[in-house]
Amino acid sequence: MNQVKTIGVLTSGGDAPGMNAAIRAVVRAGIGKGMRVLGIRRGYNGLINGDMVEMNLRSVSDILQKGGTVLYTARCLEFKEEAGIEKAKQTCIEAGLDGVVVIGGDGSFRGARDLSLRGIPCVGIPGTIDNDIASSDYTIGYDTAMNTVVENVDRLRDTSQSHDRCSVVEVMGRGAGHIAVNTGLACGAIAILIPEIPFDVDRDIVAKIKASQKTGKQHFIVMVAEGVGHSHELAQEIEEKTGVESRATVLGHIQRGGSPTLRDRVIASEMGYYAVELLKKGVGNRVVVTKDGKVTDYDILEALSMKKSVDMNLLKIAQDIAL
Ligand code: ADP
Ligand code: F6P
Repeated sequence: MNQVKTIGVLTSGGDAPGMNAAIRAVVRAGIGKGMRVLGIRRGYNGLINGDMVEMNLRSVSDILQKGGTVLYTARCLEFKEEAGIEKAKQTCIEAGLDGVVVIGGDGSFRGARDLSLRGIPCVGIPGTIDNDIASSDYTIGYDTAMNTVVENVDRLRDTSQSHDRCSVVEVMGRGAGHIAVNTGLACGAIAILIPEIPFDVDRDIVAKIKASQKTGKQHFIVMVAEGVGHSHELAQEIEEKTGVESRATVLGHIQRGGSPTLRDRVIASEMGYYAVELLKKGVGNRVVVTKDGKVTDYDILEALSMKKSVDMNLLKIAQDIAL
């Protein structure tokens, strides 16, 4: 079996807090195990253009606590084409890369699969605030993003309470409602709207607001996943139908930034270390995941075929106690 000597690491897709902790773990674990580690800049663009830098132990000093990604990230359209993948493969061969760690989402994993199938062993690490990677219970950045939401909704609650208003808050998550369900529960939302579950404004919001007004409730938070959208129109509809003055806030990219939480730093470090161990053994075409609290790995194709649903029990609890 070939001993892996040089590995690369890249971040791809939307940045997520904790990506730097994962990069640091890959670099330190790789060098600690006697390998060279190259940092590939701007996702798959760096592989296509040969934009790489040799990392040393100090290249990753002082980044553990930082959001974003020091390697930059991109959504590289060229890499979706055959010619782009071939160029990337040639760069890997020329740079003597024996493996690549790809930190990103499902799209990034598809790229990792394509490169692995062409003989460059790749290992994926789930990095996205959305937690929408089916194969893994957890994705790097999710905890930090949700804590950012909670911190900001607590501020909105102060002003909602002062004006007896309804705050419609739109959170990220792409097509998934994981962030909305958890933060909706944590922020005491009267209603949580996610793309996975059909809803009725009159039944699920207006009737709930009116019922709780009768027991003295005067201000309200409605959590909306971006996959549902239309938050401003929804706020207007709520105001018209309930008489409660309503405002919409789209939290947006603020959810992607900031210092990673303990949970994100620990999982990112574990996953980065695990990915290097796989490449050290010459194993590629895998994704590192968490399953029932443990870090493990799956074949990329198998991982990409999996399905994940929102935590319906959490949603039910949130709805049952939103009175
Ligand atoms: P994420 O990784 O956050 O899911 P994207 O879906 O945009 O974000 O994917 C990031 C990058 O992964 C894309 O810009 C592209 O470079 C690569 N990628 C996505 N889908 C594919 C694919 N089907 N084949 C090859 N590469 C892909
Ligand atoms: O995947 C992370 C994410 O922030 C999603 O929640 C959101 O839909 C998307 O990326 C936003 O992408 P962009 O950075 O291109 O605006």
